[in-house]
Amino acid sequence: MSKCAWVTLTTNDAYSLGAMVLAHSLKRVGTVHDLVVMITPTVSEAMRSRLREVFNLVQEVNVLDSKDATNLAILARPELGITFTKLHAWKLVQYEKCVFLDSDTLVIQNCDELMEREELSAAPEVCWPDCFNSGVFVYRPNEATFTSIIEFAAKNGSFDGGDQGILNSYFSQWAHTDITKHLPYTYNTAAFAVYSYLPAFKEFKNKIKILHFAGKVKPWLLNFNSETKQASIPPMFTHCGDFIQLWWNIFCDNVHQRLSDQMLPHADYFLQEEAGLAGALAQVRLGEPRSSEQEAYEASMRRQCWESGNIDYTGKDSFDNIWKKIQETLEMKPEAPAKSADDDNDKSSVTPPEIEIKATAQKLIASNVTTPKPARSTNKPTPQPPARQKSKKSK
Ligand code: UDP
Ligand code: GLC
Ligand code: MN
Repeated sequence: MSKCAWVTLTTNDAYSLGAMVLAHSLKRVGTVHDLVVMITPTVSEAMRSRLREVFNLVQEVNVLDSKDATNLAILARPELGITFTKLHAWKLVQYEKCVFLDSDTLVIQNCDELMEREELSAAPEVCWPDCFNSGVFVYRPNEATFTSIIEFAAKNGSFDGGDQGILNSYFSQWAHTDITKHLPYTYNTAAFAVYSYLPAFKEFKNKIKILHFAGKVKPWLLNFNSETKQASIPPMFTHCGDFIQLWWNIFCDNVHQRLSDQMLPHADYFLQEEAGLAGALAQVRLGEPRSSEQEAYEASMRRQCWESGNIDYTGKDSFDNIWKKIQETLEMKPEAPAKSADDDNDKSSVTPPEIEIKATAQKLIASNVTTPKPARSTNKPTPQPPARQKSKKSK
């Protein structure tokens, strides 16, 4: 067979965690094809050497960014302009046929047969099935196609500000010409979008070949207990809890021991103030009782989860725990002021401040029981790891 490859992309050390797990998931199912990762200069040297251990080719590419703030805002994913960088995949001309996989995908079953499909084959986008999702697609590397897509992008822009918009416009015949280019949904099943058709997820779960953690919630941003090696599964993701755990099992078995604290902070908008996720995970000892330093690192990781919207509703961040904390804080009475002789005579009905605060808090909670949107820089819910504490930067 001609030379084929699985190709992924990572622009930072956090997405590289996804790329590493993805590569091991492909090896786990015994693929016969090469593994290629495209990286940008923002991936740390420490991470590059780890990637080289598992990928056949680590190809540095320059960042292509749509800088299309307007359409990215409609998509509600301001960070995805740089997914234009994916287009470099067409320049891997040493391969005849490739399958591009987002680094937030996980290969569950061998799917080497995908290399027999033609350009451009992809599965429907779950939210708009006349478009394909560009997290998994079969293509033929070709310099002329690369140039042509770039020229098309320069002229027409991308309707979602990312690669998916441009690729759907460029390969617009995908929707209605050749059904063989429509991959079954099991080659790109959206992990977190199935709540709308959960019965189908249950019915066809054992046929899923590639799972895609599309959306802001990524497995590496979920709470994870290093001692038990169990990921904490948010209630709305229980249908795919075993796949999230599989991601973490692969991470624990194949990736964790190779991490280093030299790994860089995530350049992403919601993690930039924090220690690097990969670096923080490197500090954590798996399967051992947690030391106070590890507790602090995990607290920092938990804060990253909270700030990226992955709140551990059923665990540490449960309503009951937050409420308990509020109660404890309110019950910490301020020092009593020195008593004056007049105090005993003052019978006016002034409500003590702690009771007033409690009543206000109760009213607020009663009127707003939905998820609170956490403030970014105030009232830190958890302590910071001592070694990595930094002054806050403004964005
Ligand atoms: N990506 C990256 N760095 C980023 C954002 C995205 O390397 O900061 C790459 C990565 O391969 C990722 C893909 O671009 O899987 C598409 O982004 P994402 O998967 O977050 O988009 P979604 O599938 O959630 O829409
Ligand atoms: C999509 C795809 C992702 C793509 C992004 C930007 O949701 O899942 O692969 O990079 O949108 O177009
Ligand atoms: Mn994705």
